[in-house]
Amino acid sequence: MKTVKKSKTKLEKAHISLRVNGESVEVAFAPHKTLLEVLREDMGLTGTKHGCELGECGCCAVLVDGQPVLSCLVLGLAVEGREVATIEGMADGTSLHPLQQTFAELGAAQCGYCTPGFLLTAKVLIEKDAKPTREEIKEALAGNICRCTGYIKIYEAVELAAARMRGEQAEPAEESIYGRQ
Ligand code: FES
Ligand code: FES
Repeated sequence: MKTVKKSKTKLEKAHISLRVNGESVEVAFAPHKTLLEVLREDMGLTGTKHGCELGECGCCAVLVDGQPVLSCLVLGLAVEGREVATIEGMADGTSLHPLQQTFAELGAAQCGYCTPGFLLTAKVLIEKDAKPTREEIKEALAGNICRCTGYIKIYEAVELAAARMRGEQAEPAEESIYGRQ
């Protein structure tokens, strides 16, 4: 249950229960904090990245009840009782998610700052649509900004992961790894 304790002089911490990466947790935090701040500062989940804080870069994206949400625009108090998924929960134990694998294979992550947001957003896309077109991938990822890759590797990595998740024995094209020859 959501509680906000007040004292005579200051507003004290809020205390909420929610599920994060499949586990029930309770967390206490200053009630003005965003979900991004609560995840990073109060839960130690620093995989969610802190970028513009204006809803423009997408690097803070997490999933709330299975949908991508910009955690810099959501109050921590708003996720009371909800299911939050962050990049820390994407791998299955020591097995990378197919998207994590293809991002690594293709060099779709360079500095990596944007990568958690791309991975979680792309995961929702390919769970809804097993064979998205390049245009559908671009549209789904339009809210995520990458300053390093030029996007092509990211789109190719999503296509390759989707193919593998459909059961195809897909490998990266040589030109995707070595460039056009
Ligand atoms: S930090 Fe949230 S969109 Fe940029
Ligand atoms: S890999 Fe550096 S911002 Fe995308």
